[in-house]
Amino acid sequence: MTDGAPRANPVPLAELKRMTKRFRSSGQEVVACRDINLQITKGESLGIVGESGSGKSTLIRILQLLIPPTEGQVYFEGTDLTRLSARRLRTFRKKIQFVAQDPYGSLFPNLTIGQNIAEPLEIHGVGDRRSRRELAAELMETVGLSLYNFHSFPHELSGGQQQRVAIARALALYPQMIVLDEAVSSLDVSIQAQILNLLQGLKEERELTYVFVSHNLAVIRLMCEQTAVMYLGRIVEQGETERLFTAPSHPYTRALISAIPAFTEDGVTPLGKSVQFVTGVSGSKQGGQGCAYHPRCPFATSRCREETPELRTLESAHQVACHYAETMADSVLQ
Ligand SMILES: Nc1ncnc2c1ncn2[C@@H]1O[C@H](COP(=O)(O)OP(=O)(O)OP(=O)(O)O)[C@@H](O)[C@H]1O
Ligand code: SF4
Ligand SMILES: [Mg+2]
Repeated sequence: MTDGAPRANPVPLAELKRMTKRFRSSGQEVVACRDINLQITKGESLGIVGESGSGKSTLIRILQLLIPPTEGQVYFEGTDLTRLSARRLRTFRKKIQFVAQDPYGSLFPNLTIGQNIAEPLEIHGVGDRRSRRELAAELMETVGLSLYNFHSFPHELSGGQQQRVAIARALALYPQMIVLDEAVSSLDVSIQAQILNLLQGLKEERELTYVFVSHNLAVIRLMCEQTAVMYLGRIVEQGETERLFTAPSHPYTRALISAIPAFTEDGVTPLGKSVQFVTGVSGSKQGGQGCAYHPRCPFATSRCREETPELRTLESAHQVACHYAETMADSVLQ
């Protein structure tokens, strides 16, 4: 490239294009994800937030192609995973690993810790028995587990230790991306901090990219450079995490952020008005006319009831689906 020439945009590590996922449940259609466009850049972790049922887990399952989208494409390093044969998909699967909320449930109870960590290597035919054992031992040290536990069983470990085993397992195949669905939420606060520290260290050491689903916005702010906010299956705001936290431009993001507890001299208090969470919204309400957030939005106008806001770019790749996003960005959080 000559000096001063514009750099070509690098291929995103992972990308969803116009991705929609519908489920049928009790004879009704639920649109879990609707027309999602998302890019994940290598080395820039993405946080996904939104209330229960907003489609976060469905989105990350599709990102790993554990389930196929109903419409749209799923790319990893520029390859459309939805078009791959099962054999080629297996190769890509090695590059994307998953850490679940419940560490005990994600481990094999009848295998020792060493065997649990070596299991993905065995499944993918990596190395021989001896080299797999050696790598499992190395990984135990990497995640701060004592080798004393190599022959222990999962039930003999604490929740924090079990989550370290799950992380070691996820690292075994040298993935590029690790998807974590509420991976620290079942742990005590002090153990959460230790696991988050471990993940941050691993990110730097191994040049990992995380996709982090969490109800805890403080965790997202700490861990992720980019954040996407979901509401009823749509992304309603996305962009740089610090920008979203300091200048949230969708009323729903503002409500989420104003509900984060703050530490004050009087104890823990919300920063502003708290948000009412609703769950289990039916599919028929999702697809209605206008902005899906309008029944709850304090700023809704007649336009909001009639016209669905598109996700549009404000500046610096900050995208918001609200007719009045510019006004929201300029007003102060209360
Ligand atoms: N396999 C399925 N069959 C039918 N409906 C499903 C299925 N999986 C998810 N859904 C529905 O899709 C919607 C989104 O679910 P999803 O699990 O992605 O939400 P979530 O944001 O991860 O919620 P939570 O924070 O509670 O984990 C919900 O209405 C859910 O009931
Ligand atoms: S489009 Fe209207 S209802 Fe929807 S979030 Fe913006 S102001 Fe609220
Ligand atoms: Mg979920």
